[in-house]
Amino acid sequence: MKVFNIASIPGDGIGKEVVPAAKHVLEVLAEIHGGLRFEFTDFPWDCHYYLENGSMMPEDGLETLKPYDAIFLGAVGNKKLVPDHISLWGLLIKIRREFEQVINLRPAKMFHGVKSPLANPKDFDLIVVRENSEGEYSSIGGRIYQGEDEIAIQNGVFSRKGTERAIRFAFELAKKRNRHVTSATKSNGIYHSMPFWDEVFEDVAKDYPNVKTESQHIDALAAFFVTRPEQFDVIVGSNLFGDILTDIGAAIMGSVGIAPAANINVNGKYPSMFEPVHGSAPDIVGQGIANPIGQIWTAKMMLDHFGEEELGEVLLDVVESVLKDGFLTPDVGGQSTTKEVTDEVIARLQ
Ligand code: NAI
Ligand code: MG
Repeated sequence: MKVFNIASIPGDGIGKEVVPAAKHVLEVLAEIHGGLRFEFTDFPWDCHYYLENGSMMPEDGLETLKPYDAIFLGAVGNKKLVPDHISLWGLLIKIRREFEQVINLRPAKMFHGVKSPLANPKDFDLIVVRENSEGEYSSIGGRIYQGEDEIAIQNGVFSRKGTERAIRFAFELAKKRNRHVTSATKSNGIYHSMPFWDEVFEDVAKDYPNVKTESQHIDALAAFFVTRPEQFDVIVGSNLFGDILTDIGAAIMGSVGIAPAANINVNGKYPSMFEPVHGSAPDIVGQGIANPIGQIWTAKMMLDHFGEEELGEVLLDVVESVLKDGFLTPDVGGQSTTKEVTDEVIARLQ
């Protein structure tokens, strides 16, 4: 019996509605499989916890999380109780940073039955690998002078280690998919870091002769995500480029409520964290209508991470069929509840 120990942090708002739904789905999957088990430990770290304790997690919170195989998170944030920068930095961003989750993964896929904002979407199925630890999001730089002479300088940080790590991750992923990697670059405009990025990309590509490669400038690439997303498989980008592309990816799917994400620790020192793209959705909390698909698909990414790709594939197929047959929450144009969609996923799995 394989046992996966999972730290579950439902967090705030609809996190408390969709995390239990996805956990239930995982438990059913384990039963069906027969040879594995998920042991969940729930951590009540949210904005209420902050009000009572003065922090989003205990001082030794990271130590507590460290031994788990993965962290399964809902959403964090309740502006009425705690300012967003305190809640997000006190939990989410702290875990991402301290646990060296240097890769952010976000797939996007066309689901029949879910209306995409694209006029004539073809079957797209792509995944963005975003470098998640350096790049444009650095604190290096500074500001001098004031008024009309004021100057701000912002430095990007591109280490060979960090760049190669992200690019290699993309190639490894492509081997399990459709063997095509697109690099997001801007070496025609950004003088130092992007030609460097291109060089590393070409170096790493040599190790993967069976994977097709392509380099696209980020501006054109952003446009292609809208005009021909079906032609992409794995796309690798720096922190900023990946950030932009992943938002377009979520948008063309039709709702933020179905988009999943993973923050991956690649050196094995710490657990990775799986969380949907959406937030705590205070406008619909408590109504029982939160879309559980983002969290359920996030669970699928966790299964992939555990090497249980077959089980993950089964789950995603069921999700696709449930959406196609019209079990849709209001955000994707239907009238189903969280429970109805989840129950249907479970029924079909069984
Ligand atoms: P949000 O993602 O919570 O909501 C944006 C819109 O999408 C809302 O209209 C909401 O009802 C809808 N929506 C989101 N998820 C949905 C789902 N599963 N089913 C149906 N509809 C869904 O983003 P917003 O409103 O900007 O932020 C709300 C709170 O969440 C803030 O405190 C913010 O800081 C936090 N947040 C946390 C994130 C995280 O934990 N990773 C990510 C984004 C926001
Ligand atoms: Mg973003």
